[in-house]
Amino acid sequence: MSEKIAVIGSGSWGVALAILLNTNGHEVKLWSYSKEEADLINNDRKCKFLPEVTIPEGLSCYTSLEEALEGTEIIVMVTPSSAIRATLNNMKPFIKDNQIFVLASKGMEKDTQKVYTEVIKEIFPTNVVGAISGPSHAEEVSIGIPTAVVISSEDDQTSERLQTTFMNPKFRVYINDDLLGVEMGGSLKNIIALACGIAIGLGYGDNTIAALITRGIVEISRLGVEAGAKRQTFYGLTGVGDLFVTCASKHSRNRKAGILIGQGMSVEEAMKEVGMVVEGVYAVDGAYVLAQKHSVGTPIINEMYDIIHNGKTPEEATQILMSRGKKTEF
Ligand SMILES: NC(=O)c1ccc[n+]([C@@H]2O[C@H](COP(=O)([O-])OP(=O)(O)OC[C@H]3O[C@@H](n4cnc5c(N)ncnc54)[C@H](O)[C@@H]3O)[C@@H](O)[C@H]2O)c1
Repeated sequence: MSEKIAVIGSGSWGVALAILLNTNGHEVKLWSYSKEEADLINNDRKCKFLPEVTIPEGLSCYTSLEEALEGTEIIVMVTPSSAIRATLNNMKPFIKDNQIFVLASKGMEKDTQKVYTEVIKEIFPTNVVGAISGPSHAEEVSIGIPTAVVISSEDDQTSERLQTTFMNPKFRVYINDDLLGVEMGGSLKNIIALACGIAIGLGYGDNTIAALITRGIVEISRLGVEAGAKRQTFYGLTGVGDLFVTCASKHSRNRKAGILIGQGMSVEEAMKEVGMVVEGVYAVDGAYVLAQKHSVGTPIINEMYDIIHNGKTPEEATQILMSRGKKTEF
């Protein structure tokens, strides 16, 4: 069945998903915040973030939300997380109750510590909401590299519909009924990827990265379970899967930013140098407050918070993590 879909956001992930959905035979409209990006897509069939890719003729990009949303049944939200609330508010006049939202952005709102499906639900309480997450770099999905992700929503029927909509022989989609966990895994892993980048920038080795990944997933799952998610979700594609790819891949901008910080750049300089969204820098605020609120032990997240906000050096943070009191593993 062909769906009518709006993809809201024309960064690398928005464009990769729009191409995927177009390839799957759906009618897809893209929306861009940037006229320059929209013109490049419409006139040159190019995305500035994915230079290798040619955008199919059937895909048009709009800068008007009204035009992008008109007549669509599924809305994929894929702006930087910091822009989601404002974009949703701008979409208000054009949303109908039967439109389904699918969140593809990854983040946690700084001031409310909400994940963004909760923000969508707050603004559009009667619309059904879902999320897609997992190890899926746009650079690879956009050129058809085999990828597996997870999709979740508020009801089984919608999850099955979304699974069918996104899935193809290069892009395998599993269903998970834990919407909060699916989103939290994708949001929180970026903080640990920043930490891995810092470790690389400091010249540490594979042992350090493995330790950060393994202890990182413990922190993510502790926080997620405390917030109401299922522990097993964090050992699936949105947890271990997404954490591994973000900590290990050359495509990860969080890892790249971390490397620069580890080599001595300030957080601001590193973000500017990477030039793309570094979600971990924002997600750390919500995660830190949530952990304090629920008295959850998140030592790596706490040290990342201090590096980002309190001027702690990566060397000091490492020393604190390594000289904590004796613990049992589980
Ligand atoms: N890139 C990936 O591989 C990937 C994979 C999964 C999830 N994500 C998530 O998708 C989201 C978008 O990331 P991306 O990689 O596509 O971004 P990107 O860094 O490639 O591009 C940023 C985009 O944000 C737009 N933008 C800037 N300010 C804006 C505003 N105020 N309102 C709306 N849009 C604005 C820019 O025009 C640009 O299109 C992030 O939450 C990211 O974590 C990315």
